[in-house]
Amino acid sequence: MSQYISAKPGEWDGEERPLFLAPMAGVTDLPFRLLAKECGADFTITEFTNSTALTREAARSWSRMETCEEEDPFIPQIFGGVAEDMARAAEMLSSNADIIDLNFGCPAPKVTKICAGAALMAEPESLVDMCAQIVDRIDIPVTAKMRLGTGKGENNALEICKELENVGVQRLCIHGRTLKQRYSGEADWDYIANAVQAVEVPVIANGDIVDGASASACLLQTQAAGLMVGRGAIGRPSIFGEMKVELGWMDTNQLPWIEHFEGNWNSLSEVGQQFETRRWCWDRYIELAAETTGLNLKNLRGHAVSFTRGLPSAKKIRSIMHGKVSGEEFAQATSDFLSSYKELKL
Ligand SMILES: Cc1cc2nc3c(=O)[nH]c(=O)nc-3n(C[C@H](O)[C@H](O)[C@H](O)COP(=O)(O)O)c2cc1C
Repeated sequence: MSQYISAKPGEWDGEERPLFLAPMAGVTDLPFRLLAKECGADFTITEFTNSTALTREAARSWSRMETCEEEDPFIPQIFGGVAEDMARAAEMLSSNADIIDLNFGCPAPKVTKICAGAALMAEPESLVDMCAQIVDRIDIPVTAKMRLGTGKGENNALEICKELENVGVQRLCIHGRTLKQRYSGEADWDYIANAVQAVEVPVIANGDIVDGASASACLLQTQAAGLMVGRGAIGRPSIFGEMKVELGWMDTNQLPWIEHFEGNWNSLSEVGQQFETRRWCWDRYIELAAETTGLNLKNLRGHAVSFTRGLPSAKKIRSIMHGKVSGEEFAQATSDFLSSYKELKL
């Protein structure tokens, strides 16, 4: 086991288990990952990147693999249909990475048509052989994230997990849906529970965990070694600290947006607290982006829509987007909107 991978735990008794920010294309850029950690996530993973493009030194793909000294651990995720390219990309990344994560869960046609992502679950022998080659090639731990199966015929994640354990994959994550389901239906936590029982390596449960109540229900049902949160964290990295508070793993006053709030947090209305939480997260995202990747307007626009979603008057942010602005101006305008609850007395 590495310093970042603990042995499979026993029965869950309410104690703290690690929370993972799910890898998400177009969302989990470097400053967002750093922010999620500050908000309470224990582990973060880069968005998936095409291994073949990495081996060809494609600049755009390598830019997604950007990290910094503060990111600890650094876990890049790769996908691909060619074992040699996957092994080579893992090797290229391994000097800088702490763990390499392999994607066997993506349902996007551009990925499945090259027999990569979740499509590889239809060819379990190739999938396992690919993992064995990667484990052999690098000295750092290899982990894998998969779905339940393709949705055609019986689900096979459980058998694949057993094989991957045998070839030396050190941690597994299961999103409780099939490739065919994409994001529809409910995540099947019972299936994940069976996989947890079937292997000795830690298994992380993923799918439909959105708050403390669902986190606790999922841990009880699956006995997983940790939980991974995807969509619930888009625009709301604060979810990690909020979940930890709900689960009794963290004190409210330790939440950074409350710790840094000048004034009486409890005197704010519920909407005021939502605005203020998101304002703190936004401003911190901007600081972290300025220190690392720089202010990329495309990333800022995507995050701004998510960070403001559901708030009163959030449409205002869309009109700001239509104007021609610099990254700095856009960042400030979004921050001003998220502070506007004070004037509006919300
Ligand atoms: C916008 C978006 C991008 C995603 N990109 C990736 C990815 O790059 N790699 C990956 O393994 N899964 C990816 N996923 C799947 C998530 O990691 C996660 O498995 C899925 O959203 C289920 O978890 P949730 O119910 O908490 O959202 C993506 C999901 C979304 C919504």
